[in-house]
Amino acid sequence: MILIDGKKTSLEVQDEIAEEVKYLQGKGKKTPHLAAVLVGSNGASITYVNAKVKACERVGFESSLVRLPDTISEEELLNKISKLNNDPEIDGFIVQLPLPDHINPKKVTQAISPNKDVDGFHPENIGKVALNLPSFLPATPYGILQLFERYNIETAGKHCVVVGRSNIVGAPISIMMGRNAYPGNSTVTLTHSRTNNLKELCQQADILIVALGKQEFITADYVKEDAVVIDVGITRINDKTKKKGYRLVGDVKFDEVAEKASFITPVPGGVGPMTIASLLKNTLLASKNKIKG
Ligand code: GUN
Repeated sequence: MILIDGKKTSLEVQDEIAEEVKYLQGKGKKTPHLAAVLVGSNGASITYVNAKVKACERVGFESSLVRLPDTISEEELLNKISKLNNDPEIDGFIVQLPLPDHINPKKVTQAISPNKDVDGFHPENIGKVALNLPSFLPATPYGILQLFERYNIETAGKHCVVVGRSNIVGAPISIMMGRNAYPGNSTVTLTHSRTNNLKELCQQADILIVALGKQEFITADYVKEDAVVIDVGITRINDKTKKKGYRLVGDVKFDEVAEKASFITPVPGGVGPMTIASLLKNTLLASKNKIKG
């Protein structure tokens, strides 16, 4: 079994980005600038957004954290997004999800200019992904593709089973794994809450990508011998023995599945850090697209 080290790989990608930032600055070009909008004070969201801002510092990007109260109206948030769309200093920005219940995330996603949509959530960018046209790739699926690439994992002709059809992971990764590209060229089965025979389908997977949000749902009996297992789930479990008062658990029962898998991602330290690496790559691309005019 090979443990896929997302933390190490993310740092390698960040080092490459930092080199490129220095090169651009040396040529007198603008320093890439990412803004992150955080509405409310969800503990996990604060952790993720702080990690994104810290990663910007690490690679030499400018960053802005826009914190807004959870009482903000949808209209006020849309106005803020419009300002960021029109701010020439900002190359790309994200609005951290989930949003409070009174704000429609679809409206928010669609209000972000596709040219600054470094999360890759806008319908225009998702549409381009489906057509295999150049675009911002959604950050978490892009992170998974980079892991396949950097660990030289063959994907062509493989049966890839995706568990979960969310807009930000399951649905886009299923499209990306079926594209005529590397990584890609897989035969994809997208499974969800209405799927019959989920276990039997998972047992047929050469590549199993789990993005369900149910802690330790995938046990060893779901997994074929030598499968590649990618665990996107991340749930906080109260644990008083930990300094933070919680520990993080994935959608895969790691210890028993690791004994069968050829490659597996841990939680934490697997897919999570790669989401940040992808966001930075997209921001660099947004900044360079602007230079090209
Ligand atoms: N919430 C969970 N994952 C993500 C992500 O990749 N981007 C944003 N904006 N919110 C998220």
